[in-house]
Amino acid sequence: MKITLCFTGLSPEPWVQGLRQALPEADVSAWQPGAAPADHALVWAPPQQFIDEQSQLQTLFNIGAGVDALLQLQLPASLKLVRLDDAGMSVQMAEYVCHAVIRHFREFDAYAADTQAGRWSFRKPRLRADFPVGVMGLGVLGERVAKALQVFEFPVNGFSRSPKDLPGIRCFSGPEGLGEFLAATRVLVNRMPLTPDTEDMLNKSTLSQLQPGGYVINVARGKHLVEQDLLDLLDQGHLAGATLDVFRTEPLPAEHAFWKHPKITLTPHTSARTLRDDSIAQIVGKIHALQRGEPVKGIVDALRGY
Ligand code: GLV
Repeated sequence: MKITLCFTGLSPEPWVQGLRQALPEADVSAWQPGAAPADHALVWAPPQQFIDEQSQLQTLFNIGAGVDALLQLQLPASLKLVRLDDAGMSVQMAEYVCHAVIRHFREFDAYAADTQAGRWSFRKPRLRADFPVGVMGLGVLGERVAKALQVFEFPVNGFSRSPKDLPGIRCFSGPEGLGEFLAATRVLVNRMPLTPDTEDMLNKSTLSQLQPGGYVINVARGKHLVEQDLLDLLDQGHLAGATLDVFRTEPLPAEHAFWKHPKITLTPHTSARTLRDDSIAQIVGKIHALQRGEPVKGIVDALRGY
């Protein structure tokens, strides 16, 4: 069995070593143009040339959760696309989002400013009931986030394309459920897959339907958010703030207004990092399962877009 790796933006070498150890019977190497055809590939945002040259591939294993970069390519219909299925990401996403929600709810930034200034001053406790959190996108990571928020007793709403039923979570679905979901939500957490239907979905019209004092946490893709609409709603005071981990252009350009905006907290696309050892173990398990003809989790439906 031959496995090739093609990553944009990170070095494949540690992955090559890890895979060789985990799968000694396989011939593993990083892809170079003109390389011999492989059976399986591990990829992150590969170029079209890779797909065109490696026409005998049976499986593309995406080493992240989001497959939007893959679905922009011309892919043969017979190629199986498999994304990471949690692999240590959901706990990271849950801690990132809970941290952002709690930091905002408990006004920890304001307390930090007070203590920096030597002020011992209390704020009036806020009521959890006034901070319903809405998670848009209830995939593996989104569902974990929603459940983690329940531990802190926030009212939690969920929105997904098709109906879901999660205990204790008010679930809304489809275009007909969106308005009601937004109106019931003050803190919005975006975990949607990026597809033509969801691109620009966080815009003036949707974000202005959030409850007054709304807060936006984007941990999915930058292209979900119309950045100027967010800035306008922050400046008009309808939104209280935002925590953003993803951006339309990454790295975020030096002159971008988000860097220094007083109501925006940003991080460099780090909410849930791919963990190499966990991911290799999962992918090797899936290669073995596919060899035995067994089903595997995380198969991407290219038409649906995730
Ligand atoms: C990161 O953004 C991922 O898709 O895993």
